[in-house]
Order: sequence, then structure tokens, then C-alpha cells
Amino acid sequence: MTIKKAVIPAAGFGTRFLPASKVVPKELLPIVDKPTIQYIAEEAIDTGITQVILVTGREKGSIEDHFDISFELEHHLKSKGKNDLLKMVQDISEMVQIVSVRQKTPLGLGHAILCAKQIVGDHPFAVLLADDIVDADPPCLRQMIDVYNRLGKGIVLAIKEVPRAEVFQYGIIDGEGVEDRLYKVKSLVEKPLVDEAPSNLAVIGRYLLPPEIFEVLEELPPGKGGEIQLTDAIARLGEEIPIYGYRFKGERYDAGDKMGFFIANVRFGLKHPELGPRISEFLIKVAEEIRGKP
Ligand code: UTP
Repeated sequence: MTIKKAVIPAAGFGTRFLPASKVVPKELLPIVDKPTIQYIAEEAIDTGITQVILVTGREKGSIEDHFDISFELEHHLKSKGKNDLLKMVQDISEMVQIVSVRQKTPLGLGHAILCAKQIVGDHPFAVLLADDIVDADPPCLRQMIDVYNRLGKGIVLAIKEVPRAEVFQYGIIDGEGVEDRLYKVKSLVEKPLVDEAPSNLAVIGRYLLPPEIFEVLEELPPGKGGEIQLTDAIARLGEEIPIYGYRFKGERYDAGDKMGFFIANVRFGLKHPELGPRISEFLIKVAEEIRGKP
């Protein structure tokens, strides 16, 4: 059975992005002119997902509002004849069926996923982290579902090579290559010390999971950082179900991190149809100034 539901957890505190994320959810901070979470929702839709389940929390209601109808704004744009903007705003609310659930306390990513249990039901489903943007064609999630459909079972994780010195920021796999870009995962460990990491293949924010993950999450004690870790639940379920890591094609940006967010803005800015040429000109000028040229 192919995957039609996707969970997008967006209830975290976003401490790496303070003070910007104190009141404004980091998932709504724009990459050029579009909130991070809209890139994520569009990836799900472009993949063929028919129901998106947002996990939000206190102070995060504006994420739900972003995907909802805005009567006053639409009325205003209509009365001013701003039809292009009107269409843009309407397209967002008509994108896909979006359901939201609340994570009352952000106890960790694993706990956020558990909050979606009733809505996901008894089907395999996708998870896309709300602050992890992947620029890829076909979309990263599409690539993964194609692999999943071919394998017909198991857990599929998106993985990428990272510099050794950065392994402590990720879930890291110990895997064996089974075909081009595909690894059979023997074990995985959340945020290992640089010396103890089994590889430099890091799990990034895309997962295809079976519904059995919920039973594991219900029993799981807190792990690293006192949080209910999705990585721990996957590792435990991996004792019964095969886990695969897929080294996707595309560029990934961690938009929940200040530097990653900045890089994503530059990259997407350069690709923007109207702003791209001006941004490029501006960056060349700045680079020359930095190098000390007139
Ligand atoms: P992150 O670890 O990037 O988010 O989780 P965070 O906890 O908000 O960030 P920092 O580390 O404090 O800066 C990845 C995704 O999972 C969500 C986050 O909102 C983010 O989109 N998340 C995380 C939850 O929904 N609930 C949680 O308890 C933790």
C-alpha cells in the first residue's frame, strides 16, 4: 500500500533561533518570500500526499492560520483588483487537506509523532520535519516513496553524508550499501560523540514509518536531552522490521539553524525568478568589497 499521509511536526521551542522564534514560530520565518513550512507542505503535495497532519503547540496557532482561508485579506485583495496576489493566497488554503493536532508539551520529536497516532491510523506514513528543506527534483519524499514501493516494506530514512566533525548534531547510521544510494541499516544512534559515530551518514528530516512505531513510542523512555527521541523508537523497531537509508539526490538546508536558514535564503534567492539577478549582482558586489576590490 503506498503512502498517502504525512505528519509535519512543528511544535518545538526553536531555541536555536531565539530571539526570532520567541513569538513567531521558526517554521513561519520566510525563505525569501515563503514560510519554511510551506516549502515542506509543497514537497508533500508534489509527492502525491493527500492528507497533511500538522503537529502544533501553544503559540503556534499562526501555522494553522497560514494554511487557512483569510476572509478579510481575500476580500481586500479582490476589492483592489490584486488578482495575482488573491490567487496566491487562495492557493495556499486550497493546497491539500490539512488536519492539525496539538502537542501540549514539546517532549521531543518522538512524542510529537505519537500525537498524530489517531489521525494516521493503521497505515504506513511519512514524516517531514518542518524546518528541514530539501531542494530536489523529483522531491526527496517522492524519491523515498519510490524506493519504499519497490521494497514493499520496512522503514525508509533519508540520509546524507556530513562532515565527521558535525556527526554529533544528527542521528547517524551504521549501514551496509545494498544498491546505488541504498543502505541496509544495522543500527543507528542519536547525536553520537565524534569519536563514537559509526559513520558520517546522517539521518535528515524525512522518514517513512509503519504504524507499529506508535506502540514503540508509547513505551519509550526519554533519551538524549531528556526528550522522547524518534531515532530511539526507530532503532528499537529495527529489531523486527528492516530499516533502509536512502541517500537522496538534492540539496538539504537546516532552516531551523541560523546559518542553515541564511544559506537557504541565499540559494533560493538566487533561484527566484524576479529577485535572482539582483541578488546575484548584490552578492558579487559584497564579495568584491570583502576581498578589498574597488
Ligand atoms: P528540532 O529539534 O529542529 O526543533 O525538531 P526544536 O526542538 O524546535 O529546535 P531547537 O533545537 O530548540 O532549536 C525538528 C522538528 O520537530 C518539531 C520542531 O518544531 C521541528 O519542526 N518538534 C520538536 C516538535 O514538534 N515537538 C518537539 O517536542 C520537538
